[in-house]
Amino acid sequence: MTRVWRLGCARQSLVLASQNMRCPEVVYWGAPLPEEEDLTAVAVAHQADVTGGMLDAHPDLSLCPEAARSFPGQPGMVVRGTDGAALMPKFKLRDVAKTAHGLHVICDDVTLGLVYEAYIELDPETHVIAMRAQLTAQAPLHLHWLAAPVMPAPPQSDSMIDVAGRWCGEFQLNRTDWAAGIRYRENRTGRTGHEHFPGLIVPCRGATNTGGEVYAFHYGWSGGHRMIAEELPDGRRQIQFGHATRMETAAATTFSTATLYAVYAADGLNGCAVSFQRHLRDRVVQWPKSARPRPVHYNCWEAVYFDHDLEKLRDIATRAAALGAERFVLDDGWFGRRDDDTSSLSDWEVDPRKYPEGLAPLINHVHGEGMGFGIWFEPEMVNPDSDIHRAHPDWALGAEDQILGRHQKALNMALPEVRDFLFARISALLVAHPIDYIKWDHNRVLPMPDAAQTRGSYALIDRLRQDFPQVEIESCASGGGRIDFGILARTQRVWLSDSNDALERLRMQHDAALFLPSAVTGSHVGPRRCHTSGRILDIEFRAWVAAQRHMGFEMDPRELTEHEAAVLRDVTGWWKENRDWLYAADILRLDSADAAVIAEQQMDRDARRFVVFAGRSTTSAQIAPRPLRLTRLDPFARYRISLRNRASASHLSRAPLALKEHDLTLSGTALMAQGIRLPWSFPQSMWVVEGQRIDT
Ligand code: GLA
Repeated sequence: MTRVWRLGCARQSLVLASQNMRCPEVVYWGAPLPEEEDLTAVAVAHQADVTGGMLDAHPDLSLCPEAARSFPGQPGMVVRGTDGAALMPKFKLRDVAKTAHGLHVICDDVTLGLVYEAYIELDPETHVIAMRAQLTAQAPLHLHWLAAPVMPAPPQSDSMIDVAGRWCGEFQLNRTDWAAGIRYRENRTGRTGHEHFPGLIVPCRGATNTGGEVYAFHYGWSGGHRMIAEELPDGRRQIQFGHATRMETAAATTFSTATLYAVYAADGLNGCAVSFQRHLRDRVVQWPKSARPRPVHYNCWEAVYFDHDLEKLRDIATRAAALGAERFVLDDGWFGRRDDDTSSLSDWEVDPRKYPEGLAPLINHVHGEGMGFGIWFEPEMVNPDSDIHRAHPDWALGAEDQILGRHQKALNMALPEVRDFLFARISALLVAHPIDYIKWDHNRVLPMPDAAQTRGSYALIDRLRQDFPQVEIESCASGGGRIDFGILARTQRVWLSDSNDALERLRMQHDAALFLPSAVTGSHVGPRRCHTSGRILDIEFRAWVAAQRHMGFEMDPRELTEHEAAVLRDVTGWWKENRDWLYAADILRLDSADAAVIAEQQMDRDARRFVVFAGRSTTSAQIAPRPLRLTRLDPFARYRISLRNRASASHLSRAPLALKEHDLTLSGTALMAQGIRLPWSFPQSMWVVEGQRIDT
């Protein structure tokens, strides 16, 4: 007997089938099927032939593939009893309930006393499928592995893209060819990590940023994940995501995965990227006041580091406000005796040596300059050289002789007393002062992966958010070490990278846009000579790269020349004029014909307004610039395009190029098929082209 279910939206259909009451499997995922499609026929047509040297039928690639049913690849679940005996579940379908936009699948194994549930929801507007799995047992058991509902990967794909990175080099895309066996990513660092952003993109043959079929996945969890992309001996492919293995350290009767977000698109990597961007911004992030525009930040870290001096900070705040900043973030160094990174983490009391009258004089000054006030914490951490560690050495996570990270240990967030202590210290400051922002850092990996630690962190943030709903939080972990939809369900911004090098940022922002919208992606204008790369970059380039995302400044404004300050004011003014629509714009990665040019088009939902940022990372192989094709315009509409920073054309751009002289009006077809010709430019520079649809 075959039972079938269908989920769908304008973009895609997802069909599940169960044979003889076994756990359902995805038998179709792709372009929308006609309404009247016979789903049983789809399920039957899904079956592949068998030949010699094989079993007589293909074991199901179900939502939770079962070893006990001869599944030839990685199973969806690995469990043991408390006596150590391996349990080999064999599930029977009990029920499939329809929910508002999805299905709730319930299977059980009565012999072992196990219930497996899968929740699958398809958002009809963002087109994102959100899925999670849950296991309930009658008696406590040990969980080694539980996959979120398992999805097939398309056979017509040659390679997959996943994400690696490092400090100051986040979001590096890896392309790996499919081959027999497993592409296995496992993050055992206990946090999302620079090294392991939990995302996977599976483009079908020939797909680009702007065209072709693509499948994409993201696992929304901050404790470290495991990904399996496996090609089975019979040629089928499966994608599994879950927590890193064995990070549930205690026997229990209920286990859940985090949410796996998945999407299919027929219009290139951008189709998936836009879905993730919108879903994150409009569904996952909880904005304190939705109507509030994103304020321009000033962060003092690279200006003063630990050297806090009230007069200096007041002067910096005044200058930052004059440049256009609207929120001042006091970074590390204000508490304990924190004169460098060797001490005081967890001593969350204002340092009276640096602030004899407390923080009020600085906060009042910042408010007087019309800015909001934000402050840095690194709540999950403790330095051995701190009053708290001396008083409660048992609060630290891991062995006493563990290797430290930045001279610090993590606190054991599973302990309620640790969470209560942190809540008390953080809330004391938030009650005492009008603070509307926390930069929440996490600067080391954990001594071992432990799901209870991540749940403890989430619980603390949730409690603070409940009591201080107006306070926004930025997720930072030495830059982009904790970026995922799990942390972003409780925070509003990520610090993408500690690299303020605009050249490095240009590339990182481009690749991070596969998952992240502009609204949450912090980007700051750094010092003239970048502190992490040593590179000296022009102020215009630095300013425009920051203006591509949620803009801010992080240099010492006292270093700015008059020219630099004028450029910053100009670009910041542009950003403020445009931020209301940019907030909700889609970031579309362009297929640049020139490898030296990294370009994107940010466009409003109605395709009436767009801005193209074309960043030149280096000199080109060919001598004249190649045209840049735009995307997703109405082919028959006309658009006026304008080179916003045409005054910056260098003397080496010698032709009377149209865009240098005046605006141009062209059809969507011309802009997409022929593209735009930008002036010759120096490496490490950015062209900014504004476009507006003209109604006739
Ligand atoms: C981390 C962050 C930085 C800064 C420092 C402060 O490295 O990524 O932005 O806040 O900590 O110590």
